[in-house]
Amino acid sequence: MATINIIDIKKSYGSVPAVKGINLSVADGEFIVLVGPSGCGKSTLLRMIAGLETVSGGEIQIGGRNVNRAEPAERDIAMVFQNYALYPHMSVRKNLEYGLKNRGTPRAEIDRRIAEVADILEIGPMLERKPRQLSGGQRQRVAMGRAIVREPAAFLFDEPLSNLDAKLRVQMRVEIRRLQRRLKTTSIYVTHDQLEAMTLADRLVVMNGGLVEQVGTPVDVYDRPASLFVASFIGSPPMNILPLDLLMQADDGGLLKLPAGTDTIGIRPDDILTEKPSEPSIRLGATVELLEPIGGESHLHIRLGDSNQTAVLTVPGRPDLSEAARIPVYIRASALHLFDRQTGKRTDKSPHVAA
Ligand SMILES: Nc1ncnc2c1ncn2[C@@H]1O[C@H](COP(=O)(O)OP(=O)(O)O)[C@@H](O)[C@H]1O
Ligand SMILES: [Mg+2]
Repeated sequence: MATINIIDIKKSYGSVPAVKGINLSVADGEFIVLVGPSGCGKSTLLRMIAGLETVSGGEIQIGGRNVNRAEPAERDIAMVFQNYALYPHMSVRKNLEYGLKNRGTPRAEIDRRIAEVADILEIGPMLERKPRQLSGGQRQRVAMGRAIVREPAAFLFDEPLSNLDAKLRVQMRVEIRRLQRRLKTTSIYVTHDQLEAMTLADRLVVMNGGLVEQVGTPVDVYDRPASLFVASFIGSPPMNILPLDLLMQADDGGLLKLPAGTDTIGIRPDDILTEKPSEPSIRLGATVELLEPIGGESHLHIRLGDSNQTAVLTVPGRPDLSEAARIPVYIRASALHLFDRQTGKRTDKSPHVAA
């Protein structure tokens, strides 16, 4: 096992910067998830850690050792990709053995490790099959098995579940988390899926345009997004982002104490309430535009006050509301997120706004 230190790492392809200076310290045994939209530099960063891509600047340390010039094979890490990268002409057993044989691992040790990994991943009955005789989920499990048998210092995952259907993704997500808890191997996992990121990570690294926007536990990042970008990217449905003027139309809006620079507010869909809460809150008039039942809860689309601003609320069950109905909505003062649109940064330093 190992720590991984990323120190001011940069990468340009020609004159185009893909990673613009990233710092990150990964603790021994930690599960880090790099999350962000397509093209933000996640794979580039991961591939630099793996040694599959040279760095344009900065330093990468694995287990305290500078590996900038080390070959991938010398870094003691195993990578799991989206497309499995299994050898099609080899049986599952041969795929699992391949890396170990190349390193000259003794036969008895190879057999011991394969038996162990087959047991952990429940792929024992498939060892003599070829990859094409396996389902997508089984192939992905073999790809993980191949990483695990090497007993590396760290695992690097690049969107390993993207090719699986929705149900299998959830199942494999749980398996990966359980496996990592059991093996306690330092892991860096790349995904563009915020739900996958939230459920897997010890700490999230939210990336945007080749830079880190925020690092924190999933709960920290969800409860206190550091920027408008993070606020909109993490959470589903996304946080409602609204101009501050709207609060001025609210009953009791004048009671809010807002830090200098605030011109934009964010409210999570489940923080807009249709019943008045006991805590200090503001009240706004709203018009119902659309009610979308999604099972146990519904998404309620509303237009706020006399403005054209729309917002989405998550409400329990299937409320009996018709389109164009006028309803009051309530927002607890402590549930407001405050931002400066120009810098994109959060303006409230303390956890909550005082009403
Ligand atoms: N081999 C390459 N040559 C040129 N540009 C690349 C190469 N690989 C990635 N890029 C560019 O670098 C940026 C980051 O890409 P990537 O790291 O793959 O993003 P992500 O994995 O977050 O989707 C993108 O703009 C992409 O087009
Ligand atoms: Mg990628």
